[in-house]
Amino acid sequence: MYGPIAETIRTQRLVLEPLAVHHADEMAPVLDDPRLHTYIGGEPLTLDELRARYEHLVAGPAPFHQEYWLNWIVRRVRDRQAVGYVQATVTPAAGGPQASVAWVIGMPYQGFGFATEAARALAGWLTGHGITAITAAIHPDNRASAAVASRLGLRPTGETADGETIWRPPGAEPAP
Ligand SMILES: CC(C)(COP(=O)(O)OP(=O)(O)OC[C@H]1O[C@@H](n2cnc3c(N)ncnc32)[C@H](O)[C@@H]1OP(=O)(O)O)[C@@H](O)C(=O)NCCC(=O)NCCS
Repeated sequence: MYGPIAETIRTQRLVLEPLAVHHADEMAPVLDDPRLHTYIGGEPLTLDELRARYEHLVAGPAPFHQEYWLNWIVRRVRDRQAVGYVQATVTPAAGGPQASVAWVIGMPYQGFGFATEAARALAGWLTGHGITAITAAIHPDNRASAAVASRLGLRPTGETADGETIWRPPGAEPAP
C-alpha cells in the first residue's frame, strides 16, 4: 500500500470525514434516490449493500491493483447532516501519484455549492499530499459535475473512458 491516509478535512460549511463502515446508516437515506445515478450508472443500494460496499472500500483494493482508495463522507457543519461523499482513486504515474476524483451530493442538498466546496477542499488536500495530477471522468451530459470540475481548474480533454470524458488540468499530458 502507498499514498496518504485520509484525514478529516474542514471547510467553512462542511467537514469531510474519512469513510467508516458505520457511515452507511446515515448515508443510505441520503443516497436513496435513482436520480443520483442518471449519469453515473447503477442504482441506490440497500442499507446492507451499502454497508458491504463501505466494508470493501475501507479495506481498500488488493495490492496487485496498484490503486489506493480515499473516501470521505461530506457533512454539513451547521446541523451535522451528512449530505454526500467525495472520493479519490490514487494510482502511480511517471511524474508521481495521480488521483481520479468524484463527488456525489444528495438531492435535497444540491444547488448550494457543497460539491464545489468539498471538491476544492479535496483537491487542496491531495495537492498538499503530493498528488498534483488530478483528473475526473464525467458523463458528457452531466453539466452540474462539469461545473464542479471547471471550478477545480480542470478542462475536458478528447479522452474518454466508458463513455465519460476525462477532465484534466490544462496542458496536463495523459498519464503513460
Ligand atoms: C454533480 C453534483 C455532485 C453537484 O452537486 P452540487 O452540490 O449541487 O454542486 P454545486 O452546488 O457545488 O455546483 C454545481 C454547479 O452546477 C450547476 N448545476 C446544477 N445542476 C445543474 C444542471 N442540471 N445543469 C446545469 N448546471 C447545473 C449549479 O448551478 C452550480 O453552478 P452555479 O453555482 O454557477 O449555479 C450533484 O449534482 C450530484 O451528486 N449528482 C449526481 C451524482 C453525480 O453525477 N456525480 C458526479 C460524478 S463525476
